[in-house]
Amino acid sequence: TRKIIIDTDPGIDDAMAIMLAFNAPSLDVLGLTTTFGNVPVSLATSNALKLVELAQKNVPVAEGVATPLSAPQLPHPDFVHGKDGFGNIDWPAETTKADGRSAARFIVDTVRANPNEVTLIALGPLGNLAKALELDPEIVNLVDEVILMGGAAVEPGNVTPVAEANIINDPHAADIVFTADWPVTMVGLDVTHKVMMDEALLQKIRAADTKAGELLYQSTQFYFDFYNKTFGINGCFVHDASTIVYAMAPEVFTTEPGIVRVATEGVAIGQTIIAHPDKHYPLPHWQDKPQSKICMGVDSERLLAIIEATFTDA
Ligand code: BDR
Ligand code: CA
Repeated sequence: TRKIIIDTDPGIDDAMAIMLAFNAPSLDVLGLTTTFGNVPVSLATSNALKLVELAQKNVPVAEGVATPLSAPQLPHPDFVHGKDGFGNIDWPAETTKADGRSAARFIVDTVRANPNEVTLIALGPLGNLAKALELDPEIVNLVDEVILMGGAAVEPGNVTPVAEANIINDPHAADIVFTADWPVTMVGLDVTHKVMMDEALLQKIRAADTKAGELLYQSTQFYFDFYNKTFGINGCFVHDASTIVYAMAPEVFTTEPGIVRVATEGVAIGQTIIAHPDKHYPLPHWQDKPQSKICMGVDSERLLAIIEATFTDA
């Protein structure tokens, strides 16, 4: 099994991703760390605790950053995820408490305790990973892989024509994470916009997993509604759960090497600008920077089949 920490801003599709990870026999979730993003961080923490309780898991939740490192804070997108982050379903409050440590401290401690075994899966803005790097720069040599949902190589953005939500919510943090010398895999809109979940699959998840299924079913109705109004589609894109599937079955994706920098100001703020490692440019931004793996292709049918099987076999 693969040991993972999920850094998250739940969030309807984050909830789906977390439940998927809890149900995946090949993944061992060591903890959830929370960030502002879809909702304020205190609500992200409450929601993460609700999910852990629902799944009856003994998994710590550590609260992380409330604001971006230095860029202006964007409003929380309650028209996408609801005021409560779960599509305004009024789910009962949590009864347990978060770990006393900050998200960054929890990440450092857990990576140090499991050298070269922990994969960090980031499903929100990247402030906690940036803070963990600041706290202990040597973790770059001790983390197995960083798999992050965010960015777009050639696909247009979903917040601006060039920026994806998780990156534009904290562009400085994203640039720190992409330029640190650790193995990063980017699961961005180039692939997540090719994966769509529909009502039929959601019904199967609901039927298979009575507790989590009900929360996922109820909250995703709001998400479907948003997608229907915005894109005219019947269903939703699977951003965060696709990122979990990458950790379970990377062979479902094709990747290309790239050196990623993030625009941190101006009209292109939040854009992931990707240089092919063989190209040489006269300006220094992409020189001597580590290569990431960029997901460019996905077998969407297989990916959805993995989600279905993971929920229904559990
Ligand atoms: C990302 O932004 C959030 O709204 C989703 O949870 C996902 O992580 C998609 O751009
Ligand atoms: Ca998310």
